[in-house]
Amino acid sequence: MKPVEVRDKVYWVGVVDWAIRDFHGYETPRGTSYNNYLILDDEPTLVDTVKYDFADLTIKNIGAILDPGAIKNVIVNHIENDHATSLDRVMQLAPHAVIYMTERAQKGLARFFDLSAWRIKTVKTGDKLKIGKRTVLFLETPMLHWPDSMVSYVQEDKLLFSQDAFGQHIASSARFDDDYIACESIAELDDAVLDYYANILMPFGPLIEKKIGEVQTLGLEIEVIAPDHGVIWRRDPGRILQMYLDMARGKAARSVAVVYDTMWRSTEQMTQFIARGVQDAGVECRVIKLRASPISVATKELWRARGTLIGCPTLNNIPFPTIAQFLTYIRGLRPKNRIAGAFGSFGWGGGAVKEVYAAIKQMGLEVYEPGVEVVYRPGPEDEQRCYDFGYGFAEKVKEYDLKFQDIGGG
Ligand code: FEO
Repeated sequence: MKPVEVRDKVYWVGVVDWAIRDFHGYETPRGTSYNNYLILDDEPTLVDTVKYDFADLTIKNIGAILDPGAIKNVIVNHIENDHATSLDRVMQLAPHAVIYMTERAQKGLARFFDLSAWRIKTVKTGDKLKIGKRTVLFLETPMLHWPDSMVSYVQEDKLLFSQDAFGQHIASSARFDDDYIACESIAELDDAVLDYYANILMPFGPLIEKKIGEVQTLGLEIEVIAPDHGVIWRRDPGRILQMYLDMARGKAARSVAVVYDTMWRSTEQMTQFIARGVQDAGVECRVIKLRASPISVATKELWRARGTLIGCPTLNNIPFPTIAQFLTYIRGLRPKNRIAGAFGSFGWGGGAVKEVYAAIKQMGLEVYEPGVEVVYRPGPEDEQRCYDFGYGFAEKVKEYDLKFQDIGGG
């Protein structure tokens, strides 16, 4: 196996998970990778491990570069299972290595492993580890996205090990952004970034903005960002930093997502007229049927667009289950700076649209009311009402989006 060099004598020793499609309930149609890194210096240093299923593979990758028993330091940037659950296997081979992690990481990791035999040093923001010619600087990033999280920066290489931040769920033979763009496209990569941010990092916008500000204040020069998933950023790391800053500040496309489900195609028929109204108002529209698309895709599209309309049939006087699930999922992600409305069909009692409005109001989203409801199936008069609803919503999205011009709204 040929080692993959990220910087001079800094190697990727991770694993590509080509098969994963369900990442703790979040759909990963492109698969993913678990990235960890080995720095060869006077004190060989391993940065993160991989998911337990792949311990043998990362150990083989390490072994292709040096005897794992020679590892002197192990940096644990994040203790989530996909990055830390091979730690015991590594420590069996390098029992004298010193592990560096935050205090909260140590507390969390104690729930997974017996730490008593391991040499652990807890670190805080600003602490440094000299490993030879290089010095590693630690920067805590609590709640980005777990309390234990931190990133590690190697000044001599201008290299940031960013753990989950700036990651993407991509399984590819390309290890670097430029290689991936050459074999796929920049649009495909940006879509993966958006998908990852929307489904994992959406709640943490203010923290992300603050942390990137800290990195800028510290004057850290960054030429390479090496995340724990997906491709490594070396082509233009400033671009991904700016993308994150924009998303953290609420940037969205001046477009509309229509997320719906349907029982007997009545709500589905409504989407046709609503989408046409949006389009005729000059706003791009994407329509996502929940039972035909993963919830993570619907969430990505909600995050991409300034406005979202939710189409929901009534079933037993309450929202259709897939829409209820979607609302629960996005409530946890706490979307901001977005406007939403609702529509749907019912047979006799109704109730779903009212509940969808209650849910989006509770999330603090800007609300477009009233919604549109039809009885049993849309008739000719309903077609016009749906069209007008879509048109009116698109006009409102354009107006609302003006508030975000300073961050490149639209
Ligand atoms: Fe990729 Fe938070 O683990």
